Amino acid sequence: MAVCSGHETSLAWFRENLPNLRLATTRYEDLLADSGIDAIYCSVPHHLHEAMYVAVIESGKHLLGEKPFGIDLEANRRILETSSRHPKVVVRCVSQFPFFPGAQRICRQARTEGFGQILEVEAGLLHSSDLNPGKPINWKRIQAFNGAYGCMGDLGLHVLHLPLRLGWYPRNVRAFLSDIVHERPDAAGGMAPCDTWDNAVLFCEVHANGSQFPMILKTQRIAPGEGNTWYLSIKGTRSSIRFSTKFPKTLETLVYDSNGPQAWQQEDLGSQSVYKTITGGIFEVGFADAFQQMVAAFCHQVVAGNQAQLPFGCATLEETRMHHEILTAALASHARSQVVPLPPA
Ligand SMILES: NC(=O)c1ccc[n+]([C@@H]2O[C@H](COP(=O)([O-])OP(=O)(O)OC[C@H]3O[C@@H](n4cnc5c(N)ncnc54)[C@H](O)[C@@H]3O)[C@@H](O)[C@H]2O)c1
Repeated sequence: MAVCSGHETSLAWFRENLPNLRLATTRYEDLLADSGIDAIYCSVPHHLHEAMYVAVIESGKHLLGEKPFGIDLEANRRILETSSRHPKVVVRCVSQFPFFPGAQRICRQARTEGFGQILEVEAGLLHSSDLNPGKPINWKRIQAFNGAYGCMGDLGLHVLHLPLRLGWYPRNVRAFLSDIVHERPDAAGGMAPCDTWDNAVLFCEVHANGSQFPMILKTQRIAPGEGNTWYLSIKGTRSSIRFSTKFPKTLETLVYDSNGPQAWQQEDLGSQSVYKTITGGIFEVGFADAFQQMVAAFCHQVVAGNQAQLPFGCATLEETRMHHEILTAALASHARSQVVPLPPA
């Protein structure tokens, strides 16, 4: 019903394509002042998260905010503190990948049969377009707008959301961060400094479910051949399971039976995620389906209330806080070339 953008030119598409749009503005304060608006999806560069999220929450409107939910740990704390003073306002963070049916099946397996003793967890979100050094600079490649986390701030919550939901907050982290491309073409025809981390690999120690296991997390902007590949793999003594958006309808599982072969099996999952859709069950899913499932979960939370337990809800503020703790420790770990302990969850 209403849209705001910092650039007047980007409002034209909404005016032309949304017949029921009644407000298109470059001033976000106009949305906050509109009593007909219940909830706002706020998707802006990271340096604007704190000011805008705080303003939305204080206006009493429900907020679906983008990750990393504050440019750093301090900004995240201030958003959470504001939220704690407005308990009726629903505040959640975007994280659509866990709504892929394959990710949902992993979640169900973790909550029902488990994996036996967990041997290893690996999760990642991989991009490749930055392999091209001629790709123009944008705000995500500039620390002042993207933050010190670099690629971890962009991609980290996507990677951490399900592990955190399953209770796998690590005790410590050893991170290896790579700054591969140092400058990129700018709009003026020159070169601009590109001062963000391009790739990050985090080695975490997790104690959970009676197991102590390594969790390897990758957030990479320069992963050759990968186009927005999100994956989660869990290996256990009783069963192992893995899913990647590279093969969006395929789930792979290995159930260990001492009398049988150790063989991975593949299953075509169809489209059913958390909320029923009109798409037939056998048809395959994609990014847009997962995103709509997540929006449905947010709307469900708004209707059911902040405290309601949903079948699978959007990323919570606590989950954003834990992910900030991990990324902040990862920065320290890389700077000192040391394992850095995390504060208790
Ligand atoms: N969930 C995902 O898969 C996903 C993917 C990409 C980006 N993101 C996140 O979304 C957020 C935005 O990233 P993006 O790629 O869409 O960036 P973008 O640069 O494409 O869009 C940013 C938007 O913010 C608006 N904006 C900037 N300053 C403003 C102001 N003062 N007032 C009002 N609007 C203003 C711009 O007009 C633009 O519409 C970030 O937090 C990013 O991490 C999430």
